[in-house]
Amino acid sequence: MKVISQIKLPVEKEMELFEKKFLEAMSSKVALLNRITHYIVNRKGKQMRPMFVFLVAKMVSEGEVNERTYRGASVIELIHTATLVHDDVVDDSNRRRGFFSINALWKNKIAVLVGDYLLSKGLLLSIDNNDFDLLKIISVAVREMSEGELLQIEKARRLDITEEVYYDIIRQKTATLIAACCSLGAASVKPDSNAVAEMRKFGELIGMAFQIKDDLFDYGDEKIGKPTGIDIKEQKMTLPLIYALNNSTKKEKAWVINSVKNHNKNKKRVNEVIQFVKDKGGLEYAVKRMKEFQQDALVILEKYPASPYRESLELMVNYVIERKK
Ligand code: IPE
Ligand code: IPE
Ligand code: MG
Ligand code: MG
Repeated sequence: MKVISQIKLPVEKEMELFEKKFLEAMSSKVALLNRITHYIVNRKGKQMRPMFVFLVAKMVSEGEVNERTYRGASVIELIHTATLVHDDVVDDSNRRRGFFSINALWKNKIAVLVGDYLLSKGLLLSIDNNDFDLLKIISVAVREMSEGELLQIEKARRLDITEEVYYDIIRQKTATLIAACCSLGAASVKPDSNAVAEMRKFGELIGMAFQIKDDLFDYGDEKIGKPTGIDIKEQKMTLPLIYALNNSTKKEKAWVINSVKNHNKNKKRVNEVIQFVKDKGGLEYAVKRMKEFQQDALVILEKYPASPYRESLELMVNYVIERKK
């Protein structure tokens, strides 16, 4: 059995019902919107975020979930989808989940509006049901994601990113949403327990590892359903490159910065930079850091009694860094 099916096993029923509710949550009376949301749900992603919500909820409550858990999972996946639709506009990317991105098919104008629509549908799902504690968790994540994306753009323009700032960026743009999944999962069933904060930390650590893995994909040429080798084109300096720069001579550094700044649309030059990063051991360094975040996340899980849910979360932690897409 594939690892992901094994992970899903203890929340299979919940995920099935979730998919129905998620589709309902997106529906609109506007025909164009409905066409696009159907396009989106027919090309679903890994759905790791709702899995985190259900697994954490069940782990902290001896297997119980409720309507709040389902709504929380839908809100998170709606927001995640909205940010991907916007992200592909921001990154000028034409592929997502193995197909054309929304901006590639319907152009930027429509992609921006569809993203806003999904975001508002998510927030309203919480508001209409008085899930204000969950809405707070989610809104913090939305704010942080926007800040993280903007910090990333600022650093891409100035090319003065450090390893610490890189962690700030990925914490904000990616880890906070996964942190929100895990804390929301706990809050949906045990709102006043320590688990809410503990699971937040767990999600944040795993989110850090998750984004480092995503950034490593960009240095490879495996088929992952979205373009690779586009970070340098967008002047995005991620951990492997930051490490390589920190371990370069002045001359090498000047060459890399000049390449990223002035030759980032030149495929041959970009490939040379990628090779340079590899020669400097940038990928190995990023893998090492990713595994540290993963280990710290596993330590948090040890405090919880053994259960099929905890076991699946452990597998999920490993899946995050071993996944192929
Ligand atoms: C992609 O997230 C965006 C990042 C934070 C790197 P996923 O890899 O979870 O996307 P899907 O939902 O499976 O497509
Ligand atoms: C993911 O960022 C989107 C957000 C976290 C908002 P990236 O631009 O790094 O991710 P992919 O590679 O396009 O999925
Ligand atoms: Mg991006
Ligand atoms: Mg992107």
